[in-house]
Amino acid sequence: MAGSLFSRLILAAANQPAVAATATASPITRGLVRRFVAGEALDEALAVAQSLGDGGFTVAMAYLGENTASAAEADAATDEALRVLDAISSRGLDPYISVKPTQLGLDVGRHVAVSNAVRLLEHARALRAFVRLDMESSSYTSAIIEVFSELRPRFDNVGIVLQASLYRTRADLEAITRLGGQVRLCKGAYSEPPHIAYRRKRDTDRNFVRLMEYLLRQDAQPAIATHDPAIIDHARDFARVHGIGVDRFEFQMLYGVRRDLQEQLARAGYRVRIYLPYGAQWYPYLTRRLAERPANLWFLVGNLIRERRPPS
Ligand code: FDA
Repeated sequence: MAGSLFSRLILAAANQPAVAATATASPITRGLVRRFVAGEALDEALAVAQSLGDGGFTVAMAYLGENTASAAEADAATDEALRVLDAISSRGLDPYISVKPTQLGLDVGRHVAVSNAVRLLEHARALRAFVRLDMESSSYTSAIIEVFSELRPRFDNVGIVLQASLYRTRADLEAITRLGGQVRLCKGAYSEPPHIAYRRKRDTDRNFVRLMEYLLRQDAQPAIATHDPAIIDHARDFARVHGIGVDRFEFQMLYGVRRDLQEQLARAGYRVRIYLPYGAQWYPYLTRRLAERPANLWFLVGNLIRERRPPS
C-alpha cells in the first residue's frame, strides 16, 4: 500500500527519467529484480511456473508492461499474452493470466483496449483459461470498470481487481458483484490523493476486511490478494465460522513476497495463486514493490553503498 509519505516519495522519485535510467542500468537493481520478477523471457517464467505448480501453487502469469502508447504496441502486448496462454495450457498448468488494461491500449483509446481484450478472451475461452484485468491508478478506475462491464456480459472467464484504499470501492464492488463479476481484492499499490483514498494504512486495512467479508458472503469466487497475516487469519476464521469452504475463494500473493506464508497456507489446504510477472518492462512494477516496503529500498541502497566502497 502506497499511502505513507515515504512511499509516495519513492514513487515520485522513481518516476524521474534520470533515476529510472540509472536504476534500470545498475546490476544491483537487477539483483532485486530477480526476487520479484520471474525473468525477462517467457521460457524463464514458464520454468518458475512449473516449479511453483510442482509445489502445489497455481499462478497468474503477467507479461510486464503498461501505458502502451500506440495501437501497434498494444497489439504486440496482446500477441504476447496469447502466446503465454498457449504456453501455460500446453504445459498442463492452470491457464490464468493477469493483464493491465493500459497495456492493452487503454491510453490509445477504450475501443483499442476492448478489442484486444476480446481477442484475448476468445482465445482464453477456447483454452478454458481465465483473464484478470489488473487495476491501475485511480485515473483509470472508472475506465477499467467500464471496460470490464462491457466484457463481462460476453465472457464469464474475465475478472477484475478492486483496491481497498479507495473510498469508492464498496460501491464498485456491489455493482460488479451484481454483474456476476469475479473480484480480486487488494489494498492498492498506487499513490493516491487524500480526497479519494485512505491515507492511513490502518484505515485501508479495516476497509479491506469489510470488503473481504462482503465478497466472501457473495460466493463469487473472490481472490484475496494480500500478504497481511492478520487479514489472512481473519479470512480463515470468517470462512470457518460461516461455513465457506476452501473451494469458494483463493488467496493470491506476489512472487517473491512472504514465501513462508504462501507455503504455510498451501500446506493447510488453501488454494494459493502466485502472481508471476516476467518481461523486460519491470521497472514500474519494481518501484511499486519498493514503495510498499521501505526495507526493500534499504536493501538496495545498502548494496549500492557496499558496491561503491573501495576494496580494503
Ligand atoms: P501490507 O502492505 O500491509 O503488507 C503485509 C506484509 O506483507 C508486510 O508486512 C510484508 O511482510 C509483506 N510485504 C508486502 N509487500 C511487500 C513487498 N513489496 N516486499 C516484501 N514484503 C512485502 N495492486 C493494485 O493496485 N492493482 C492490482 O491489480 C494489484 N494486483 C495484485 C495482485 C496480487 C496477487 C497481489 C498479492 C497484490 C496485488 N496488488 C495490486 C498489490 C497490492 O495492492 C499491495 O500493494 C500489495 O499486495 C502489498 O500489500 P499487502 O496486502 O501485502 O499488505
